Amino acid sequence: MGRLEGRCAVVTGAGNGIGRGVAIRLAAEGARVAAMDIDADGLAVTASEIGSACMPIEVDVANDDSLKRAASEVESTFGALHVLHANAGISRRGLASDCPREAWDAVLAVNLTGTYRTIQTFFPIMRDSDGHRAMIATASVQALRGSAWTVAYDASKAGVTGMVRACAHEFAAYGITVNAIAPGPIDTQMLGVGDSEARRTRLAERVPLRRLGEPENIAGAVMFFATSDSAFVTGHVMPVDGGLIMNAPGTAYRTPEERGK
Ligand SMILES: NC(=O)c1ccc[n+]([C@@H]2O[C@H](COP(=O)([O-])OP(=O)(O)OC[C@H]3O[C@@H](n4cnc5c(N)ncnc54)[C@H](O)[C@@H]3O)[C@@H](O)[C@H]2O)c1
Repeated sequence: MGRLEGRCAVVTGAGNGIGRGVAIRLAAEGARVAAMDIDADGLAVTASEIGSACMPIEVDVANDDSLKRAASEVESTFGALHVLHANAGISRRGLASDCPREAWDAVLAVNLTGTYRTIQTFFPIMRDSDGHRAMIATASVQALRGSAWTVAYDASKAGVTGMVRACAHEFAAYGITVNAIAPGPIDTQMLGVGDSEARRTRLAERVPLRRLGEPENIAGAVMFFATSDSAFVTGHVMPVDGGLIMNAPGTAYRTPEERGK
């Protein structure tokens, strides 16, 4: 029997990549999963991989009405909510010196405001549910280290970490934990490595564990927060990054042996 038998979950950005991997894992552990995404085709693939435990809902997290409709559907169908993974996100490249206003606004609208509004919209259902309840937001190691090319993205993810701490303080009164996961490079369409083995190798060289992460690695961290194993953990930002955060931005990681050469 799975550890989430009888539990109900919402995962946003579940039409691809990390969100799909998380939705599949939560369902495999016994949860009923409302899988949400703006991408209807991606959502259909996730739903078919999961089967009857999945309730796919087309949602734009940057749109309050869309989120409200999704929350009513979750309330009327599940009647409870125990795990919320606010994970939908986008990325636009742009240097701090010339990042276009449109790119800044779009990234902040989805990654920061969308994540916040997701948490705010689903909070009442979670507050009125029983047992271990956890909100998990997807931040990024970029929130903790930054890079020249992704000023809007880095700012949005740093915003998520601050927002998560504020929510953790407030929702502790209801027994709800709120944490963020900060993924390192995970091999999804967002990372954009595609078929380029050269790029994959170059990125992997920066990671002490010498590989890119997979959505399943993030799903493992979500499982920790989703179960009472993490009952006394709130307000944290957990890097799941193969050790990338220990390494200076842009440089290849060298093992002690390589450094000695
Ligand atoms: N892949 C990485 O290396 C990496 C690293 C750090 C953080 N992240 C974060 O992980 C999360 C998932 O990213 P991923 O790598 O799986 O990318 P992805 O592009 O595969 O998945 C993101 C999903 O979010 C959905 N989405 C985008 N805008 C939306 C909106 N307005 N409403 C609803 N859904 C929307 C997309 O349709 C997509 O299905 C994002 O928040 C991303 O910033 C990814």
